Amino acid sequence: MATDAVAAAMAASSLCDNLEPATVRTGIRDVLAAGAARAGERVVVGGWVRTGREQGKGTFAFLELSDGSCASTLQVIVDAAVRPLARLTATGTSVLVEGEIKEPPEGTKQNVELKVSRVLEVGEVDAAAYPLPKGKVKLTLEKLRDVVHLRSRTNTIGAVARIRHQLAFATHRFFHENAFLYVHTPIITTSDCEGAGEMFQVTTLFSQAEKTEKELKENPAPSESEIEAAKVIVKEKGDAIAQLKAAKASKQDISAAVDGLHRAKEHVSKLEERSKLKPGIPRWDDGSIAFENDFFKRQAFLTVSGQLQVETYACALSSVYTFGPTFRAENSHTSRHLAEFWMVEPEIAFANLQDDMNCAEKYIQYLCKWLLDHCREDMEFMVKNYDKSAIERLELVSSTPFVRISYTKAVELLKNVTDKKFDNKVEWGIDLASEHERYLTEDIFKKPVIVYNYPKGIKAFYMRLNDDDKTVAAMDVLVPKVGELVGGSQREERLDVLKQRILDAGLPLEPYEWYLDLRRFGSVKHSGFGLGFERMILFATGMENIRDVIPFPRYPGRADL
Ligand code: 4AD
Ligand code: MG
Repeated sequence: MATDAVAAAMAASSLCDNLEPATVRTGIRDVLAAGAARAGERVVVGGWVRTGREQGKGTFAFLELSDGSCASTLQVIVDAAVRPLARLTATGTSVLVEGEIKEPPEGTKQNVELKVSRVLEVGEVDAAAYPLPKGKVKLTLEKLRDVVHLRSRTNTIGAVARIRHQLAFATHRFFHENAFLYVHTPIITTSDCEGAGEMFQVTTLFSQAEKTEKELKENPAPSESEIEAAKVIVKEKGDAIAQLKAAKASKQDISAAVDGLHRAKEHVSKLEERSKLKPGIPRWDDGSIAFENDFFKRQAFLTVSGQLQVETYACALSSVYTFGPTFRAENSHTSRHLAEFWMVEPEIAFANLQDDMNCAEKYIQYLCKWLLDHCREDMEFMVKNYDKSAIERLELVSSTPFVRISYTKAVELLKNVTDKKFDNKVEWGIDLASEHERYLTEDIFKKPVIVYNYPKGIKAFYMRLNDDDKTVAAMDVLVPKVGELVGGSQREERLDVLKQRILDAGLPLEPYEWYLDLRRFGSVKHSGFGLGFERMILFATGMENIRDVIPFPRYPGRADL
């Protein structure tokens, strides 16, 4: 924290009665970055013990402390006189300590260390029960997925988290610098953007049904005869009022009788209402589910893409983007697919397919350059532990123009491959499989490749139909390590063509009427794309499995926490 900010925080906290003073903590990254220049300074540091060992026959302990602000740990020295050492050394213990920054003795690898004068707080760990291993012992990434709530304390997941943060920050910077507006598109939607039927449904029908069933068990629905009996009472009360009126009874007596009649009528309608309660999901007579009884009075889903909605803003504010979670209920068990992943989706008005490719290329290059400039330590960790060529790849991609070839050309190239046998046969019209995509980018070109003009039959309805009537103005960016990183297109801006494409895709027109309105009123040539954020992290870090680059992975059979 900057000194000014610290002073301001302290001044503010001293004004608050009955509150403990604010914690003015220095990040380990700041301590290490300043190195010997801050020797002699007193600071408060907090973190979790990575390794701890007692030394000098138990007279002092070394703690390797991590607070996640950087990949490195700070060596902290605590004397037994300051605090019983046995409580501090277990891996995972949290400590908040005050001490003096010192230059370590010559010949040691630390540039500075902290000599502790006060231990302010300790969060102890029962070493025998702690799920993460001690010291240099490592759990596999796969095993770490079983302790998703603690894996953020490991070097790898910490490095990935910092890289992920930097990529998110660089994303906003890139679009902001290029005058794009950030638009928050809905997570709950009633239209299927990709038309692939891979949506998770959002419904309260099941919880409603459970509630009703429970209630009916405790308090069964009234029988016909109960309702009839209640109706008889209403009739009797009505007759009684008529008699009172005929007998010229007092106003008071009549109004009391009328009140009684109202209550009896209310009781009947309540009974009738309850008699309609039925266990199970509400259905129409033909057996179809009555979504009119659902929360939104219609079917609703988690979004697979914010594109359609963000187009409404592009068709008014010109250059926009959305960046949020998207959901796909595809039963994919690959290392490149998640059921919940984040997508960055720019959408640009007055832009054609080439503008779209230019934007995607500039954006990906910006991200690579950003990591090289701002994430060296973590990238070096990746190189050392996961992928020797990770930094080289960022350098190459940030400085080399991407190859651009048509789908037809790509298919020709793949058909002529002799040194590899593909599992999926290559012929014009197929959706390129991951093995084809990776061969193009890793073996043939050895750099990112943008494949464009795909067959219309394999792409979504909103992509602009080309003059050949066979292909659409689509583009996919393929990168080494990952395959498809980006999917995008010029959008169909012609009303009649778009309508026909929706119908040809077997989709109903009604949910897309608002989308068609964008073509009815001031239609404009426009383009956009979606970058799979986790795939970008895989590409940057060289990590193998997408489940390890999102904090809380969701995939078939797993949604921990
Ligand atoms: O190619 P996709 O399906 O394109 C769209 O959703 C468009 N609506 C985007 C747009 O034009 N605005 O998905 C875009 C990218 C893919 O290239 C891939 O990187 C990633 O999203 N992606 C996934 N990432 C992880 N898990 C999955 N199941 C993914 N499906 C797609
Ligand atoms: Mg795609």
